[in-house]
Parts: sequence; structure tokens; C-alpha cells
Amino acid sequence: MPTRKIIKTKHFFEEEFVESLAEVSTEKVKRWGPGTELKVVGKPISRLDGYDKVSGTAQYTFDISLPNMAFAKILRSSLPHAKIKKIDISEAKKLLGVFAIMTHENAPEISWYRGSYLFDPHVRYQGDEVACVAAETENIAEEAIKLIEVEYEELPFVIDAEKAMQPDAAKLYDEGNIDGGKPSVYERGDVETGFAEADTVVEDTFTTQVTVHNPSEVHCSVVNWDGDRLTVWDSTQGIFSVRDTVASSLKIPASHVRVIKNYMGGGFGSKLATGKYTVMAALLAREIGRPVKIALDRKEQNLAVGNRPDSVQKLKVAAKMDGRLTAMTHYSYGAAGAYPSGAGCSWPFRTVYKCPNVRTEEYTVFINAGPGRPMRAPGNVQGTFAMDSIIDEIAEKIDMDPLEFRLKNYVEKDQVFNVPYTSKRLREAYEQGAKAIGWQRRNKKPGTGSGSIKRGIGMATQIWWGGGGPPAYAMLKLNRDGSARVLVGSQDLGTGTYTFIAQVASEVLEIPIDNIQVILGDTGACPYCGSSGGSTTAPSVSPAVRDAAEQMKAKLISGAAAALDTSEDQLVYSEGVITSTLDEKKSMPISDIVRGMRERVLVTTGAREANPKGYTTNSFGAQFADVEVDTATGKVKVLKVVAAHDIGRILNRKTLENQIHGGIIQGLSFALMEERVIDEYTGKVLTTNMHDYKLPTILDAPDIEVIIVSDADPLISSTGVKGVGEPPIIPTAGAIANAVYNAIGVRIKSLPITPDKVLMALYP
Ligand code: MOS
Repeated sequence: MPTRKIIKTKHFFEEEFVESLAEVSTEKVKRWGPGTELKVVGKPISRLDGYDKVSGTAQYTFDISLPNMAFAKILRSSLPHAKIKKIDISEAKKLLGVFAIMTHENAPEISWYRGSYLFDPHVRYQGDEVACVAAETENIAEEAIKLIEVEYEELPFVIDAEKAMQPDAAKLYDEGNIDGGKPSVYERGDVETGFAEADTVVEDTFTTQVTVHNPSEVHCSVVNWDGDRLTVWDSTQGIFSVRDTVASSLKIPASHVRVIKNYMGGGFGSKLATGKYTVMAALLAREIGRPVKIALDRKEQNLAVGNRPDSVQKLKVAAKMDGRLTAMTHYSYGAAGAYPSGAGCSWPFRTVYKCPNVRTEEYTVFINAGPGRPMRAPGNVQGTFAMDSIIDEIAEKIDMDPLEFRLKNYVEKDQVFNVPYTSKRLREAYEQGAKAIGWQRRNKKPGTGSGSIKRGIGMATQIWWGGGGPPAYAMLKLNRDGSARVLVGSQDLGTGTYTFIAQVASEVLEIPIDNIQVILGDTGACPYCGSSGGSTTAPSVSPAVRDAAEQMKAKLISGAAAALDTSEDQLVYSEGVITSTLDEKKSMPISDIVRGMRERVLVTTGAREANPKGYTTNSFGAQFADVEVDTATGKVKVLKVVAAHDIGRILNRKTLENQIHGGIIQGLSFALMEERVIDEYTGKVLTTNMHDYKLPTILDAPDIEVIIVSDADPLISSTGVKGVGEPPIIPTAGAIANAVYNAIGVRIKSLPITPDKVLMALYP
């Protein structure tokens, strides 16, 4: 029988302890540890939802259409900072086809972020919600919005983090613009002593820009009331989190809300939090007695649903002539927009390179711009660019190869918590990555290549959490015909969740993957699972699915023992058939066993076991970039990126490579192209469409070589899986920046590395 125990876990984003009672059988089965050969798991199986997606039958939230459905649109503030003095909806209401209009004057008072409201008469950024209209068609709703007259009292605004930190700056909140009123400080050792014993010290400042998630599918909800019960279709990374936020906002029981999300076109962190638009649609739907659909447009996407905070990072690092780091300090601030979202970016600095004396000080600052949100490896993307840039600088100063310098400061243990890692294969990533890129080809002296197009090679290191953990459950149903159905309350963001779940169940039950159906994304049907964020989905869900399948196998063996009148330990399970080792005529396929047990269906529920105590689980990696810089135009072309990562066990080689390719292209785009620009005189965003906000195309994509240096994590869970969603974006910008320096011999310290910056640096 499974063991029952209390599991304590720490949720990555909320930092709260979750307790759960879970029945876990996987402690009794052999782990899929290093060296375990598997038949289905790890193989490059095409995604199960691929056909639905390319044929157009996959139903995204945007595709949901209900009878009698109304459409909602949001009127957003045109000013970066204002108080609404008067709002007149009378003309808009007269428009034929308008059903209802909600503003702060007639909507229920619903608290939102820290003292703000769902409809708040104090608007804090261009794009903040002012009113919401429900109408017969989307066009009518849009027309109605134009007819709403708003009289604003303009307030002074601030759009720059450094200015926002000044005492006389315009205030977004009474308590000031620094989140929490003070910096977040980390310290170990004594940095003064560390600097005093150093042979050399380097100080530098690096900056990164605000970027916007811009997932291909826009944020969208469809809501439908049935009496006092609400169904929400939502393009979200967390169905249960949306359920809970919608329920608490509307003051109805969570059990009265069902959230569904079948397919999704990406989120990257912008779809972790529940959108105001979802709650607004639910309020309007209740008022007008019709289903309501609300879909944001690309402009709203660029203004109002999240961004990666920018950063200013002032670093000081010190080393001995033999390469050992003796002290490092990191002082940073970043603009998280008008509503709270951490802008801290020093985590890699505290953890990646061995250093006894470290101090970091981080400020998260409010400005009058769209809300910051977690965005694919929040903080580590910004921090790694700065950290790996200055590491290259100090290595050059003591005339040491940058890779050798990194190996010199290699750390075996987690320096922050002073515990071992469950596994760490960074050394292998350095070695294999360097070999694949041809590290020896780099310019020994930066900028010395001949001709006007200069070539260079650079590298950077990746660290990320991503070990996952409980609570995550999986329900497995086995039918009489031998087919199975797995239900998990997780969601597939486009990352391959459907496919790896089927692979894990197929591996354990030894039945064809085509006989397994996976149901995700429905709080009304599936057992609880956390949000898909922090690279936690595969490491949390895969062991829960394995647990459910192992329990099913145990159930079948016990059923077969009774049917075949033999003892369980004389039975072997192979390819969905159970046979007696003593008499091979005593043999039954699982369909006969279910029948023999007089059951129509067998059901098991699996759970994610607790993480091992006293360890940190991190993923590691290194990326190497080979670039070309045109010194006449300033254009950087990334020719090749080698990505060598330790991500534990591979669940599916194909979807894994997809993830890594996506991360690198998004990282390249962060390094060279993307930037949200705000006009400093009006406080308005100038980059609200896909023309002005520059994203890469396939022509910008480099040759990518993926090397996985890990086999399986021996300790983390029964499947040995760590997450891979975020790791591949983390080191890309740092590797490219170092490669650009290696090519041209001048360092660009401000992202994105656009041609104008390259030319200014080359010809000051
Ligand atoms: Mo992410 S920023 O964990 O979606």
C-alpha cells in the first residue's frame, strides 16, 4: 500500500509553505535515476497536439464562441498618471447594441494590488483600466468606448527608475516609489576584507531594457454564468490560480468557479497572474445575463499585461592573480511599472561563481508604466548578462582565459544555503560546449580580426531553480479495452505537457502511446496542480503521473493474482500482459484483468513526492555564441549558439529542443532587438505594435546546437527530471555580449546591442 505522509514544500513565486497529504507509491519503486534506460520517455516523439494545432481544430480560448455571447472591451487611461474627476457614459449607453458599462462609479469595490481597486479612479499608467463595455459585437464595444467622456486631473508622472527613487519624485503610492520602502539586501562574508586581499578590482555598470512578453496568442477570457456558478475559459498559465482569484474577487466559493484552458499560444510569465479583464467580464456577464468574451488587442498586450523590469546594475568584483574571486558587490535597481513585481536580478551573482564575500542590494521601483511581471527566468536574464560581462572583464585584466577563470571559480555546493546540490553537471557543460563551438578559435586578443566584418566567440553560465515539487496530482483511468486516460490539473502552454504525460504513462504501463488520452486544463475535472511557471511543470507533474501509473500496475498485478489463482510475486508485467513465471499459460492482458476484476474502469490517483531535505535542486548550463559584427553598419549577426545544459532526465528530446531553440531566440532578441520605449515628455509608450516593438524573424535565428550533459537527477524525484522552460534564455545575452567584445574589442554594456550603440562604441 502507498505510504501516507505530510509534504511540505515551498512555492517558488509565493514563497509560502504548502502542506499536502499525499499518497505516494513511488518511494517503493526504482527511481529513473542515472543509467536507467527507458523505452518511451526521452524519445523524440512528435507532440500529440501537433495535428490539432496545424489542422486548426485545436480550440484556443480565442476560438470559444457561445450562443448569445456578448463582447467586452476596456477603456484604458490615455495618460500615464491621473485622477478621474468625471466620467460620463451617457452617450455610450445610447449606442444601439451596448448592454452595460462598468466604471469605478457603478462597479462593486474589489481590491486589487496593494490598496488599488479593480476599477480605480487613480490611474497609474497609460493603459490602466478605466471602464469596461459589454456589447452585441466587438465593433460596437469599441465604438462605445470612444463615446465615454473622461475628465482627468493630470498628475505629475515618472517613467525612469532612477528619477522615481528621488525624494521629490511624483509618487505612485503614498508610501513612496520603492517597493517595501527599502532594498532587499543579501550578504555573506565580509566584502571589505575581500577587496583588501585582492590583487585586482574591476568596477562597471550595466543596464538592461524593459521587454514585453508578446505571446503569440493574446490574453483572452470567455465567461458564462449558470445560476450562481461560473465557467471561465481563459488563456492562462494557472487554471487553479485563476479560479481562486476570480472566486475571491467575486466573493463566491471557489467550488462555484470552473476554469478551462485546453490550448494556449504562450505566456512566458505574463499569464501567471489573473487578469483584471477576466473579473470585469464576469461582472458584466452576471449583470447582462449573457456569456461574455474579452480579448485584448496587440496594443493592450504591449501596454498592460506585463513586462520584464529593466535594470541598472553597478558591479564591483575582485580577484587574486591566480583567478580566485575574493569579493563581489552588486547594487541594482529596476522599474517594475505601476504595480508590484520584483525587479531583483542578483541571484546568479550570489550563486554561480565561488566567492566567500558577497553583498547585493536590490531596489524594485514603481514608475508610471505597465505592470512588471515575471518573464521567462525573471531576474536571472538581466543579472547573468551583467555578471558574465564583468567576469570576462576581470579575467582579461589578469590575462586569463575566460573559461579557465570560470573553472577556477567553480562551486560544488550551494553557497547561499550551504547545502549540496541534488546534481550538478556544469563542468561537463563547459567542456562539451567549448569543444562544440571551437573555443580555441576565439580571438586571443579581442578585436584583432582582419576585414570590416569581425568574428568573435563568447560564453556565459546558467543557473535556475526549476526542481518543482508538490502539490501535483494525476488521476489515471484504465478502461476495459486497455486504453487509459490521464487527468492532470496542469496546463500545456505549448511546451509539450500533453505529450510527456502520455509518454510517462506509456512507459510504466507498457501500452502504446496512442491508447493514452491526456486531459489537462480543467479545474472542474482534473485534480489540483500548480501554475505552470518557474520551470516547474515537468519536474512536478511527471512523478505524479508515474505514481498513478505504478499504482495502477500494482492494482493490475493484484487483480491478476486473484484471477490466475497465484501469488503476486510469481507474476511479471510486460507489454500490458501479466504472466506467471511458473506457468506461462497463466497469462492475461490488462483488458481481461479489468474484466476479471468485474470492474468497468480502474482508477488511481498519484502525487508528486516531497523533494529531498537538505539539498538544493538547480539546473545548470553554459552557452557559447559565435557572432559576426559588421564594423561598417554596426549590425551584429549571431551565427551559432551552442547550448550545453544539465536539466536532469530528458522526457522528450523533440519538445526539449523546441524549448531550447525558443529560449535562445528569445534571448538573442533580448540581447539585440527588443525594447519598450516610452516618450519622456508625454509618458506614452511608443512601441505598441509588432512593427515598432522589434522581434526576430527566422532570418535572425542562429544555428543552434543542443547538448544535454545530464542523464537524470538521482535525488529529486522518481523521474529525475528538472525543468527546462527557463534555463535556455538565461545565458544567451551574456554569451552574445562577450562574443561581440571578442569580435570588436569594445564592450557594449547596455542592452539591446543595436547598431547605433556598436557604432558609437567603435567610433566615439
Ligand atoms: Mo514563467 S516567468 O515562470 O512563466
